[in-house]
This record gives sequence, C-alpha cells and structure tokens, in this order.
Amino acid sequence: PIYTDYFFNESAYDYHDGGYVPLEKYDSPTMPLNIPAILKPDKETDTDVWLTVHAQPGETQIVPGPKTKTWGYNQSLLGQTIVFKSGKTYHVTLKNSLPELTTFHWHGLDVPGPFIDGGCHAPVYPEQDKEITFKVDQPAATTWLHAHPCPLTGWDVWHGLAAMAYVTDEHEESLPIPHNYGVDDIPVVLQDRRFHEDNQWDYDADYDPDGTAGPTAMLNGTVNPEFDVTTQKLRLRFLDGSNRREWRLHLSDDLVMTQIASDGGLLPEPVQMTKFMITCAERAEFIIDFKDYKPGDQVSLYSDEMPILTFNIKDLAKNDRAIPEHLADTPYADPEPNAPVHQVVMSGTDEEVMLNGKKFGMMRIDDRQELGKVEYWDITNTNDCCGGMLHPYHMHGGSFQIVSRNGEAPYPNELGYKDTVSVNPGETVRIKMKFNYEGVFMYHCHIIEHEDGGMMAQMQVWTKEEPEKKYDLMAMDTL
Ligand code: C2O
Ligand code: CU
Ligand code: CU
Repeated sequence: PIYTDYFFNESAYDYHDGGYVPLEKYDSPTMPLNIPAILKPDKETDTDVWLTVHAQPGETQIVPGPKTKTWGYNQSLLGQTIVFKSGKTYHVTLKNSLPELTTFHWHGLDVPGPFIDGGCHAPVYPEQDKEITFKVDQPAATTWLHAHPCPLTGWDVWHGLAAMAYVTDEHEESLPIPHNYGVDDIPVVLQDRRFHEDNQWDYDADYDPDGTAGPTAMLNGTVNPEFDVTTQKLRLRFLDGSNRREWRLHLSDDLVMTQIASDGGLLPEPVQMTKFMITCAERAEFIIDFKDYKPGDQVSLYSDEMPILTFNIKDLAKNDRAIPEHLADTPYADPEPNAPVHQVVMSGTDEEVMLNGKKFGMMRIDDRQELGKVEYWDITNTNDCCGGMLHPYHMHGGSFQIVSRNGEAPYPNELGYKDTVSVNPGETVRIKMKFNYEGVFMYHCHIIEHEDGGMMAQMQVWTKEEPEKKYDLMAMDTL
C-alpha cells in the first residue's frame, strides 16, 4: 500500500497556547543546501578512533546582509557530520569555547549514563575540555548530537548546537541503497528561525514556554535551499532539529517517498507514503526515485503548503536496483510476565507542564529499571482538551519498540527501533524498553521548552552487583 495521510490526530497539529507561528516565505535567492563536512578523526587504529568535538561561537552568512551570530560543533553553525562505525571504541575530546557551560548529548547512541550520555549532569565549562570513551555497538542509524544543559537546552540548540551523528555497520553498507554522502545520501536537518534586526536571532524575544518557533524554514542552516539531483535515487536523512515545530512533509506531484529507517535504524520493511509528519528529535530516512523526471525539471519538498527545499533535476545516473523488501531484523524480547509496567504521564501546557505530576528535579531519581531487563512503559498524554497538543516523548539510554497506541497497532512505519515517539492527545502509547548500560538517564518531552520547563524525569538503571550505586549528580542551581 501507499499511505496518504499523516497518521497523527490532525486536530492536534501545531497546537500552541501562545499562538502558532506559521512558516512564511523568506525573500532571498535560493542557495545550495549546505552539506556539512564529515568530521575527520584525529587518529585511528583498527579498533579505536580519536575525535575532537569543539563547541564554538562564530558568525554565519545565512541570509543576505549581515552575518548571523551562531554556535556550532567544529564549524560556526550546526556541526560537521560525525560517522561512527559500529564495533569501534571512540575517544572523544569535548571542547568548549562558548562563553558558558554546555553539555554534549548523544541522542540515540547506546552509551552509559549520565556522564557519557551527556545530559544535564555532564557539564563542560568554558575554555575546558574533557575526554570520554565509549564503544559503539548498535545497528546502523541516524543519531544526533545536541547540547543538553538543564534548563538551557532550548537556548543552546536555538543558537545552533546540533549535529548529525551516523552509525554505520556492515549490514547496512551491504544493502543496495544509496551510500554516497552528499551526492545520493544527504542529511536534512529541519529547523526554523526568526531573523531580527541585522539578521540576528533573539531567543528571548521569540521564547515561548510551549516551544520556540520562527517563521523561516532553515535546512542544514540554509534558507531557501536547493539541491542538484544527479542520481535517479536519492536518500534523505531527516532530523527534526527544531525546538518545537512538527514538519508535515510531501513532494510535488505527490511523489512517493519510501521510508527505510527511523530513529534507531532500518525498518524491517520499507514503507511507501506520500505524506510524512516528523516531530521534534525524530529521524527518518527516505529514498525518493526521480525516474519520471527529466533534466531541467524541479521538484519541491513542502511542509504543509510551504516549499522548503527545491530539487533541480540534472542528468540522472541510473539506479534501478530495487529497495530490498526486507531491510533488517528488528527483534525485541518481551518483558517477563510479572515485570513492572512503568507509567509516564505528560500533562499541562505552557508553564504548567509536568511529568507524573512533578517538575524535573536534577537530584531526584524518579524510576528504576534493572540492567538488561525488558519492561513496558506506558506513556500517556493528558492534553485531551480543545484539540490538545502532541508531545514527542524521548528516552535516553537506548532504543525502544512501540507496542501499541491506545491498545491498537502502532503506525506502519513505527515497527523499527525508536528513541522518540509522538503521543497524541488523550493517548497512551505502550513501548518496551531495555537498557544495555547502567547509569542515570533522562526521559522527557522533546518540545525543548517543555523539557526545559520541567516535563522531564530521570531514572536509574541498576545492576545486581550495585543496586544503590550513587552518581555524582549536578544540582540545577549550580548552573
Ligand atoms: Cu535529544 Cu534529553 O534529548
Ligand atoms: Cu536523548
Ligand atoms: Cu510537550
């Protein structure tokens, strides 16, 4: 089948207490879509890789006129793309040249918490650096890096602290799908901003407790981007890197998009659709086949009715290799019969947002799960009044699998591994979750201002050897 709707509850799209910010056309010429460089290792052996990730301030020419003051990783805005090979051990130097502390969170990487995971408890202070070491041991996936100082994640990400981090493995590399970075396999980081006087961003002026948004679409840091398509098949790796915005994507002529991967890697089978909604922090990979177009044609990617990226069709290198009908095995064990079921209730809007009736406390452990055990988590969104709003729920510490939505089957493109799932108003999503590393991990709504506003909690993954292990957690007021 070819799916032709967005799956989610339409009445909840864009709900915003303080007023939705619709996308507007920015009046400037089209620019080639930025394709960030791939970060070069400092050193590499057969088993180990050394990298430096440098958070730095800079200035970026985004729109005509004055440059915009921005932050980025190893570049002035967003980041160079980091490529991890599954099976290797990484030694990453985290370097901070920003005027304030930040953290480096590996969203979607399966690593120990809370210090390597890089959430709130892992600050790197200005002019300092620190080395972390971890082994990457998970299927190929599009993960990402973003800053996560609590409660300033929204501020940091708005300034530009977000980068793609791919995991590769032999299985994914062996599939007949596009792999040529920047040519037929491209990153697409979806964000929105408002350009104020002298083309500057002003987070405080645009701040909204229900999620900060701007009217101008910015993809990989490019406003009004275009991309020259030179291959029949193009793989797009989308990341919703916006603080708040959901993107409802579709192409000219309702061209079919074939989804091959979600947050945690390949789907078991490709899913064809003409419309796709991505919510904050989710990733989704698509293959588009341009075989029916000829050189000189243009195809647009839209979000709702706004064109956000133009594809210029060139002479297309033929690629008739069919996308495999089976992409990957995605096994996930079931919980033991008497395993506890964890409850997560996301409620409120604006300043009233809460998780399980509480605001986030950095020193408080809200839940516990044993290392290596699979358990159900029931995630409820109580915003059922007046349309309500969607909350994209995220867990640190690994990938889960979606079991059901209000007792019904998950959407057809939700059968792979996920770390973020959008929950409709009045809905309970059941997931099963296993942690492969111990530590303290956050779980929260990924509308970043909800997370900063307290719709967040943390849990401890414990081991039989040391069930009450104490971690040196950082108190919020030490910021
Ligand atoms: Cu994308 Cu708590 O993170
Ligand atoms: Cu995360
Ligand atoms: Cu939320």
